[in-house]
Amino acid sequence: MAQQDPEERIELTSETRRLLEETDLRPLWEVEDTMGHVYDDLEADIWKWGDIKQAIDHVERDMPIEELPPGFQRRVAVPINTGMQNAISNTIYVGVQTVSPGETAPSHRHGANALRFTIDGSEDMKTVVAGEEFPMENNDLITTPQWEWHDHVNDSDETAMWLDVLDLPLILDSLNSTNVFENHELERQPVTKTQGYWDSQYGHARPAGESNDGGIPGPFEGIREPTPPYRFGWTEILETLRQRAENNNPDPYDGYSMAYVNPTTGQEPLFPTMSFRAQLLTEATEAHFHNATEVFFVIEGKGTTHVDGETLEWDQWDIFVVPPDKPHHHDPENDEAILLGMTDRPVFEAFNFYAESAADQ
Ligand SMILES: [Fe+2]
Ligand SMILES: [Fe+2]
Repeated sequence: MAQQDPEERIELTSETRRLLEETDLRPLWEVEDTMGHVYDDLEADIWKWGDIKQAIDHVERDMPIEELPPGFQRRVAVPINTGMQNAISNTIYVGVQTVSPGETAPSHRHGANALRFTIDGSEDMKTVVAGEEFPMENNDLITTPQWEWHDHVNDSDETAMWLDVLDLPLILDSLNSTNVFENHELERQPVTKTQGYWDSQYGHARPAGESNDGGIPGPFEGIREPTPPYRFGWTEILETLRQRAENNNPDPYDGYSMAYVNPTTGQEPLFPTMSFRAQLLTEATEAHFHNATEVFFVIEGKGTTHVDGETLEWDQWDIFVVPPDKPHHHDPENDEAILLGMTDRPVFEAFNFYAESAADQ
C-alpha cells in the first residue's frame, strides 16, 4: 500500500491539541518512537583486572570502612558502563569489594538479592549471613538472599576481595522502585548457627515434614521458593565441570556450562532475577544472540569474546559485559578457560519474553 504523503496527513485540530495538552494525554503515534530510549543502548565493554586492582588498592588506602557515609557502608569499586550512571547494566550490578585485616563491613539487610564470588579470600574471611559464618575461600560463591542480615568480617591478616553481584539497577532504575533497607543495631549480627548449617539443610536429606522454604521474614513473606543462604564451594563446582567435560559434548554457545541452581528447587534460576553459571571453555564457541544481558567474570585463563565486530580480550579476573541482542562468541586462548556467566535471563523468562537465536560468526 502506498505511504500517505506526510504533507497531506490529517492533523489534529488546535482545539483537540489544546485539550490533550491540558489533560496530560498524548496520541500513541507521537509517543511510540520515544519508547525504549530511557537508557542509551548498553555497550560491550571490559574492565581489566589491573585497572580494577589499582583502583581498589587506592580506595582501600584512602578510606577505612568506618569512615564511609551511613547507608550501605561497603567499600566497593563499581564498573560503570557508558550510558549508565551507576552500574555495568540496567539490570545487574557488579562491584569489587575489599575488607582490610581486622575490618568489618557492618550488618545490614535489603530487598535486593546479592551474592559474593570470592577473588582473594581465606577461611578467616567470613561473610555472615542469616546467623552463620560462611568462610570465603577463593572462587566460592555465596548467596545473600533478600532480607537476610549480612556482614563481612575479616579475621585474617590479608585484605580480602570479592565480586558482589546484585539486582539493584533492575529494582531501583528499571523498575523505578525502592530497595527496602535496614541497618542492624549491632555492627556484627549474632552468630546463631553452626558453620555448615545452611548448606546441610538443602542437600539430599531435608527436614522431614517441613516445606524447607527458607522462611524469609518481613516484607517478603509469601515468596514460595526463596533462595536460601548457601555456599557453593569451588572444589565441588570445578569437579562437576571436569566430569561434565570428560563425559559430554559442550554446549555450542556456552561451552561446558554448569548452572548454580537454587538449592531449594534444584533448578535455575539461583535468584528470581539473576542466573549464574560456571563455564569451562576448551574451544571456540559458536555465535548466538539473545535479548538478555550477560556479564562475565574470568575465573581462570585468557581468551577473547567477539561481540558484534568488537573484540574483548580478557585475562584472569577481568569483568566484561555482552549487551542484549548482540551476536557474540567466546574463544579461549589456550586449552582451557573458566568464566562465571551472569545473566538477567530469568526476568525475561518470567514474562515469557526470552528470545535467542544462532548468529553468523
Ligand atoms: Fe548488602
Ligand atoms: Fe550468550
